[in-house]
Amino acid sequence: MRNIFILFICSLSITAIQAQPSGRANFDAAWKFNLGDISNAQEVSLSDKNWRDLDLPHDWSIEGSFSAHNPATYNGGSLPGGIGWYRKKFTINDPLPGKKYFIEFDGVYMNSTVWVNGHLLGTRPYGYATFQYDISQFLKQGENIIAVRVDNSKQPNSRWYSGSGIYRHVWLITTPDIHFEQYGTYFTTPSVTAQEATVSAQATISNETNQPTSIEIKVRIYDAGGALVSEQSQAKQISANANATVTQNLKVISPHLWDVEHPYLYKAVTEIYKDNVLLQTYTNNVGIRYFHFDADKGFSLNGKSMKILGVCDHHDLGCLGAAINDRAIERQLLILKAMGCNAIRTSHNPPAPELLDLCDKMGFLVMDEAFDCWYMKKVKYDFHLYFKEWHERELRDMVMRDRSHPSIILWSIGNEINEQSHPQGGKIARELVGIVKQYDTTRLTTSALSQILRADKNGYTEALDVAGINYSIRLYDSQKKEYPNRLYISSEATSAVASRGVYHMPASKRIYKTPDMQCSAYDNCWVPWGNSAEDAWMAVKKRDFMSGLFVWTGFDYLGEPTPYNYPAHSSYFGIIDLCGFPKDPYYMYQSQWTNQTVLHLLPHWNCNIGDTVDVLAFTNCDEVKLYLNGQSIGSRTFAKTDKIHLSWKVAYAPGILKAEGYKNGVLVKTDEVKTAGTPDQIQLIPDTTIIHANGTDLCFVTVKVTDAKGVLVPNADQQIQFEVEGAGKIAAVDNGNAISLEPHKANQRKAFNGMCLVVIQSNGKAGSIKLKATSAGLTGLDLTVWAE
Ligand code: GAL
Repeated sequence: MRNIFILFICSLSITAIQAQPSGRANFDAAWKFNLGDISNAQEVSLSDKNWRDLDLPHDWSIEGSFSAHNPATYNGGSLPGGIGWYRKKFTINDPLPGKKYFIEFDGVYMNSTVWVNGHLLGTRPYGYATFQYDISQFLKQGENIIAVRVDNSKQPNSRWYSGSGIYRHVWLITTPDIHFEQYGTYFTTPSVTAQEATVSAQATISNETNQPTSIEIKVRIYDAGGALVSEQSQAKQISANANATVTQNLKVISPHLWDVEHPYLYKAVTEIYKDNVLLQTYTNNVGIRYFHFDADKGFSLNGKSMKILGVCDHHDLGCLGAAINDRAIERQLLILKAMGCNAIRTSHNPPAPELLDLCDKMGFLVMDEAFDCWYMKKVKYDFHLYFKEWHERELRDMVMRDRSHPSIILWSIGNEINEQSHPQGGKIARELVGIVKQYDTTRLTTSALSQILRADKNGYTEALDVAGINYSIRLYDSQKKEYPNRLYISSEATSAVASRGVYHMPASKRIYKTPDMQCSAYDNCWVPWGNSAEDAWMAVKKRDFMSGLFVWTGFDYLGEPTPYNYPAHSSYFGIIDLCGFPKDPYYMYQSQWTNQTVLHLLPHWNCNIGDTVDVLAFTNCDEVKLYLNGQSIGSRTFAKTDKIHLSWKVAYAPGILKAEGYKNGVLVKTDEVKTAGTPDQIQLIPDTTIIHANGTDLCFVTVKVTDAKGVLVPNADQQIQFEVEGAGKIAAVDNGNAISLEPHKANQRKAFNGMCLVVIQSNGKAGSIKLKATSAGLTGLDLTVWAE
C-alpha cells in the first residue's frame, strides 16, 4: 500500500488554468529586496543596486532562524517578521492614450504600501487580500519603478504562521480604455438538468473614455475537448466614464456535470467588441453543477447525497513557507484526494487563487473563509485593528474574486469569532451576511462557531444559512432537537495531534503530553476541546443531518504547536506531516472515505523484547488475521466492536508482523511491518522524475534511511547532506519534526523517524538535475531528475 500511495501521487500532473482577462502578464520576475526599513525607499532616485535580486513569490520569514525571541512566538512559528522593501524596474514601450495599466497583488503579508514612480497608490493592511491599483496616470514611456513596503513588524498579529512579504503572485494588466472591470465576469449555473443547463454569464465593463459608447459582449462556451457548445451576444450602451453590466443566459444541452469525482470543466470566453473590433477577452472555467443542503438528509451534489469529507488547512506550504507554488499546492491536494478527502476549508482567510483553480480542476468542494476575528481581538495586533475600516471591502473582494469557482459552496464570515458571546454578535453577523449576499446568492453563508449556545442567543446563528459547529459533538443531537429545520456542518472537527512514527502506549488511552514533546500516532492524542479522529468522524457519519466535516487539519502547518511550547514551533494537528508524509490515521480516513481496499498496520516493528505492543489495523476489510513470524496472533472482525479499527496486543519478538485482510472470506489485501537492522543506506524516492524547466516547478524527494535489506529504520536520525548539480537547486528541506530547530533553507537535514524531505526546484534551464545524498556511515545515493 505504501508503494501504491507513491505511485498514485506520481501519476498525475495537473496545471491549473486561471480565470483571467487578456492583457494580464505575470509580474513576478526580477525584483530587488531589502530586509529592514529604509526611509523613502519609494523614491525613484534611491539606489537599490546592493539589494538582493529575487523572483516572487517570496516569504522572508521562512529564510530566518527559529528563536524563542521572535515576537511572533511559537504560535507564529518562532520565525522573524519585520519590515521589508521590494522594488522592480519595468519598461513601458507604448503608454498610448487609450490604454490602461493595473497592478494586481494576489496577497502581501501584511500592511503593504505601494508606489509607482514615487506616487503613492495605497495601503492594504489585510495580508490575505487580493488588490489592484490603476497605475495608468503615473506611468511614463521607458523605465518605471514600483516600490512596495511590507510591514509585518507588529507582532503577534496571527495565531499561526503568516509568512512575510509578497508571498503570492503579482500581475501587470494592460487593457484598452473600454475593458472588463477587475473580476469582470461572473458565471453561475441557475438551472441544471440532465437534458439542459442554463449558464448565467455576467460581464461588467468599464468605459473609461469621455464618450458614450456601444459595445457588444460575446460569450462562447467550449467543452473540455474544445468544441463550441453554446454562444450568445448582446449589445450594450455605456455612458462616458461609467460601468455597465450585461447578463446573458446560455443553454448547454446534455451538460457534463462537475462533481468531486469528475470535475468536468467547460471553458467560457467572453469578449468585448466595439465596431466589430475585439477589445478584450476574459477566460473562465465553468463547472455545471447544483447542490443542496437538507435539514434532515444533509448535503447533495447534482441530486446525489454525499458527505462533505473535508479538511481545514492554513496557507503555508511547510518548508517552503508561505510563498505560494502551484506544484506544492497541487501535491497537497493529490495527497488529500488519495485519502478520499473531497473538500477544503480555507481556514481562516481567503486563499491563493491558484488553490481555488486547482479545487475546480481536481474536484474539491470549498468553504471560503474571510476572517479569524472581527472587532474583538484574539492577539494584540491582529485584523481587529483594521476590521472597522476594511471589513466591507475585504468581504466584497473575497466574494467578487472567487464567486465563479464551481468548487465554492459556502462562504464563511468568520472562525470562532469572539462576538459569538457579545450582544452585538447577531447584528454584525447579519451585516456581514448581507454584504456576501449583495455579491453572490448562489452559495450559502456559514460561520465556524465554537460557542453555538451563545451565538443562538444573540442572533448570530440565526443570521447564517448553515450553522457551522466547531468540535462540540455532544451538542449535535440537542441542536437538532431544538432547531429541527436548521442546516448543520461540522465546520471544524477533531484536533487530534500526532507525530509521524511516534507511538505512545497504551493505544486505547488518551495520552496528551509527554517529555519527548511529540504526540502519539495511534489516534490516542487529542486536545481537550477535540476528539480522536475516529470519534469525530463517527459522530458525523452516524448523523444524516450533519452534512459533513472539516478535520483540523489536513496538513501540519507552521505555528500553533499545541500541546507544546518552544522549541516546538509547528503543529501536530495534520493528518499529514509538514513534509507531506501521511501519519497513520491517514489510512483510517482512507479506509472510510474511499472505495479502495485499505489495510494499514501500525506501529513499526522495532520494539524491545519483553514489550507487549499495541498493534492496530486501519482497514475496511471485514476480517484481519495477524501473524508474527508465521505464527497466528489471532483474527479480528468488526462484529464485536463499535470501533472502526482493529487491535491486538502482541508480545514483541523481532521479525515480520503480517496482516491478511479478508472480505467475505477472500484474502484481498496484506500489509506487514518488519524489524529493521542497523542504518545502512539512503533511499531517494522522487514524486516525479520530470519537471518543467520554468524556474518554479518542484520535485519532492522522500529520503529514507534503511537497513541493508531496504527496510526503513524507524528511529534513524542521521544527518543527510544534499548536493544538487545541473538545472535545479534545493528549494527547502524538512523532516516533519515539530521541535527541530534546523533551518528549512539548507542543504542538509537530520532524518526524523527514518525520513526526511528535500525539495528540488527548476532553475529555469532545461537539462538534468543530479541530486546526491550522503551521510557518514551510510551508503549514499544519486538521483537524476529532468527539467524539460
Ligand atoms: C480551533 C481554531 C483553530 C485552531 C484549532 C486548534 O479552535 O479554530 O484555528 O486553533 O482550534 O485545535
